[in-house]
Amino acid sequence: MTEKDKVTPWNVSETALNYDKLIMEFGCKKIDDNLIERIEKVTGKPAHHLIRRGLVFAHRDLDQILDRFEKNEPFYLYTGRGPSTKSLHIGHVIPFLLSKYLQDMFDVPLVIQITDDEKFLFKNLDIESTKNFAIENVKDIIAFGFNPEKTFIFSNIDVFDKPKNGDTGLNNFFQRELMLSKEISFNEGSKIFGFDLNSNLGQITFPVRQILPCYFNTFNFLKKCICLVPAALDQDPYFRLARDKSKYFGCDKPACIYSGFLPSLRNLGKMSNSASHTIFLDDSLEEVATKIHKYAFSGGKDTLAEHREFGGDTDKDTAFQYLRYFLEDDTELKTIEMAYRSGKMTSKEMKQRCVEEIQAFIEEFKKRRASINQEIIDGFFSCNKRFY
Ligand code: TYM
Repeated sequence: MTEKDKVTPWNVSETALNYDKLIMEFGCKKIDDNLIERIEKVTGKPAHHLIRRGLVFAHRDLDQILDRFEKNEPFYLYTGRGPSTKSLHIGHVIPFLLSKYLQDMFDVPLVIQITDDEKFLFKNLDIESTKNFAIENVKDIIAFGFNPEKTFIFSNIDVFDKPKNGDTGLNNFFQRELMLSKEISFNEGSKIFGFDLNSNLGQITFPVRQILPCYFNTFNFLKKCICLVPAALDQDPYFRLARDKSKYFGCDKPACIYSGFLPSLRNLGKMSNSASHTIFLDDSLEEVATKIHKYAFSGGKDTLAEHREFGGDTDKDTAFQYLRYFLEDDTELKTIEMAYRSGKMTSKEMKQRCVEEIQAFIEEFKKRRASINQEIIDGFFSCNKRFY
């Protein structure tokens, strides 16, 4: 694999987005029809559309989580966000929608780590900006509707800066960080994360802090239980390493469930903060419409006459791809797909339908976000929780 083709938590090149290849390289498993059937059997409900449509498609030991759940053995969820911009973009939404679904279905605790330290170390950002982004991003995250009784949010910088009531919710975090960092050689870390002689010292030890929450005993409010991490596939390097080191902390290997990447509007790799014309959750409805109409890559033919005759390519059409993520109604999605492929529906109409769906999502989201006050935020950061 060349450097260009590499997927690390900080670099997802467009040439590397061959998911089957990545699953093989990372050593994850595909979520197949049998596993989807089991999820439906255990939860008694149809699987989430992201899972049904193969948009959440890879896992590690998800079958074990289901086995244990059936035996009434508890688990907890762990996910996170690195605040590098004021607002989340619509790609970040995917793992949080997945986490919300999992928390609702299994009624389990969720811990959310805000890696403001990571974004300070890896991006050209000062501490104050990352901390301010963290505050804004936390409001975005709470607006997904997580259960306040069962969700604990913490920020890495904040934990070390100002422990609340002397209790951070974390169990000797610094001591455990020392222990884990001693277990991982620079050689091992570099192979996984691509560090080199130009990496700063903070970057080299950062992964230890993203790994620790995979172990129940990192938190003083969890009893012995296994962790399930919902994320996009780029985060797997952390959790591969977390699995290798779990014995050291007397824990089970964390299980994982991964989505792919919502593509950028131009269909050049994943949607990211650095991609042009990123759609953010704080965009105005007009901005959303303009970005999609102007920049969404079209799978349509060059002329209307050709399009009517030969039909469009839904695999290449970004507006259709976004609908696969955001439009829940399977029947409508199928109708749209057929209409576009047969040439009955034009690219302009496809984009308009996509605009409506993303606008509706963002509008709902903004309403929920507007109702979040400091008391609600403090509740999510509070450590007075005893989940298991
Ligand atoms: P961050 O802030 O880069 O991204 C947050 C989550 O969003 C996923 N993601 C995407 N998913 C779908 N489509 C996209 N275009 C897209 N872009 C990003 C990321 O994979 C991630 O799940 N280091 C992490 C923060 C973190 C974390 C965790 C994430 C700390 N602990 C545990 C997952 C699980 C980060 O900077 O994520």
